[in-house]
Amino acid sequence: MSEARIRTLAEYEAARAHSIADPEGFWAEIASDFQWRKPWTKVLAWDFDGPDVKWFLGGQLNITENCLDRHLAERGDKTAIIWEPNDPKEASVRISFRELHERVCRMANALKRNSVQKGDRVAIYLPMVPELLVSVLACARIGAVHSVVFCGFSAQSLADRINDAQAVAVITSDGMFRGNKEMPVKRVVDEALEQCSSVKRVLVHERVRWAVDMKPGRDAWLHEELKLVDGDCPAEPMDSEDPLFILYTSGSTGKPKGVVHSCGGYMVYTQYSFINVFQPEENDIFWCTADVGWITGHSYMAYGPTLAGATQVMFEGIPTYPDPGRFWQVIDKHGVSIFYTAPTAIRSLMAAGIDHVLPYSLHSLRVLGSVGEPINEEAWHWYRTHIGKGRCPIVDTWWQTETGGILISSLAGITDEKPSHAAWPLPGVQPVLLTAEGKEIAENEVEGLLCMKFPWPSILRTTWGDHDRCRQTYFSSYKGYYFTGDGAKRDAEGRYRIIGRVDDVINVSGHRFGTAEIESAINMAKGVVESAVVGFPHDIKGQGIYAYVVTEKPVDDPEDMRGRIIEAVAAGIGRIAKPDKIQFVSGLPKTRSGKIMRRILRKVAENELGSLGDTSTLLDPAVVEEIKDGRV
Ligand code: WT7
Repeated sequence: MSEARIRTLAEYEAARAHSIADPEGFWAEIASDFQWRKPWTKVLAWDFDGPDVKWFLGGQLNITENCLDRHLAERGDKTAIIWEPNDPKEASVRISFRELHERVCRMANALKRNSVQKGDRVAIYLPMVPELLVSVLACARIGAVHSVVFCGFSAQSLADRINDAQAVAVITSDGMFRGNKEMPVKRVVDEALEQCSSVKRVLVHERVRWAVDMKPGRDAWLHEELKLVDGDCPAEPMDSEDPLFILYTSGSTGKPKGVVHSCGGYMVYTQYSFINVFQPEENDIFWCTADVGWITGHSYMAYGPTLAGATQVMFEGIPTYPDPGRFWQVIDKHGVSIFYTAPTAIRSLMAAGIDHVLPYSLHSLRVLGSVGEPINEEAWHWYRTHIGKGRCPIVDTWWQTETGGILISSLAGITDEKPSHAAWPLPGVQPVLLTAEGKEIAENEVEGLLCMKFPWPSILRTTWGDHDRCRQTYFSSYKGYYFTGDGAKRDAEGRYRIIGRVDDVINVSGHRFGTAEIESAINMAKGVVESAVVGFPHDIKGQGIYAYVVTEKPVDDPEDMRGRIIEAVAAGIGRIAKPDKIQFVSGLPKTRSGKIMRRILRKVAENELGSLGDTSTLLDPAVVEEIKDGRV
């Protein structure tokens, strides 16, 4: 597929050595595999203090020419997307690279017709239908910056994201199918837009055929707009460092921030990591089960596979509908050979029982992948034995919204694998473990804070509208390093094992939430004075959300109060962030300076009541006893 493809362990080791000795030479060689409108004049300029990182300076390109146009001669008739609808009785749809190219161009022209220009931000709030991928690529085609918002987020979250980016247009749908449910989508957009003055146009894809309110002058049906334009749209030349997209993600403080990725480096790294981690061959069928609303769906659906000219499955539904055998049925139906999913899905399907797996042959599978959270050994072995039938390598891919692509993972069938270990850095990636004081740990068999000491092409460039927040969050904890927020171990041979977040971020089913963000949603519920949220180990979700809530009055109807708190979280963030456990307390354990001692709350939530540590500095040590006794 590409010159930059590693095929043996020796090639991996050589590439890694080359990438460290001569990063610029290394990446220049890989970047020369792409179509550039104008070659770059300098490979890299960087300074982590700014931060100010630029790749392929002076170069011009359009990522969609690399995803689409360059494949037309040899792969025009090859299937790019096999769309599998929510309902197994509805026909699947195959879209060739030529058709995808045409649809992207048509959508790009529809955006232009609706006054969207290069540099404008477009919010995309769509379920998993082909129009979602088409919209993403259409924005990139004309140089508009896409901001995809996962359809599980509430109107308030959508409004916050639209306002932060000052989006001028929204692409959405009437509603969505999800398992046996039909859910509103346009209605959520309407509610959000009551707070957003920047949005001039809303394009609505018809999916569930519901009557929706269409605001004259603002809203238009997508299928009607697409009829008014043609399928020919020249790609806008973009500077390497022009922003490609914004994707909002949670941190330990404040509102979610808009992580910004730029055109050139992101293109080079997503294709490079896709072909090397998953090792696709021309006829492979790749299936990433993530939603395009998360970074995984950006890098390994919209961009990585299309850049590489791969065929992929896009699935509208959920793993448990109509039954927990759906993933395996879809794998057999479409002959999926490379399957990429999250540990939480593996654990829930494992819990559903082997009877849902046995009816399917799964013989097309060749490579398995995992992403989003640490995969526990039990789930790893189940995945390997029952899904991979003991013959498929598993790639445990560690990365983040901010890294743009996979940084630590085995390469399928090339480097070795070890359960629960993401294992090896990709070439071009230079991880280090630091002590809490910021000293690099050189030895192996150690644990520390995971940082990167050198930039890779798809590192985030900024956080939208607030560059200092980017510096503060990622580059100020340890001078000269990018800090991931994760703790990790390194084994005797140098393999990395990610332990999890060391900050106030909770990873629920592979999705990130900040404790502060959940607390402020809870505090909106009537009758709540304050709250503190921590994560706790959860069999299926990895981490669950445990909320300690202080109310104005003693709670006489706990069910009603819990319901109100959950509704407040659903309204503020979305149902995906609702607490699993809520404990009413008369006060929170605070130090004399008013800081909440989360360590204690975490221990209680984890049911480690014997090891609460020193509580003598607390303002009111008695509250700890009450919290222990009231544990839910
Ligand atoms: C956080 C990033 C990367 C796409 C999905 C999540 C955790 C991610 C792994 C893994 C252990 C992992 C980390 C990371 N994480 N992959 N293979 N093993 N932990 O993206 O929402 O930006 O979250 O997910 O804690 O920091 P994200």
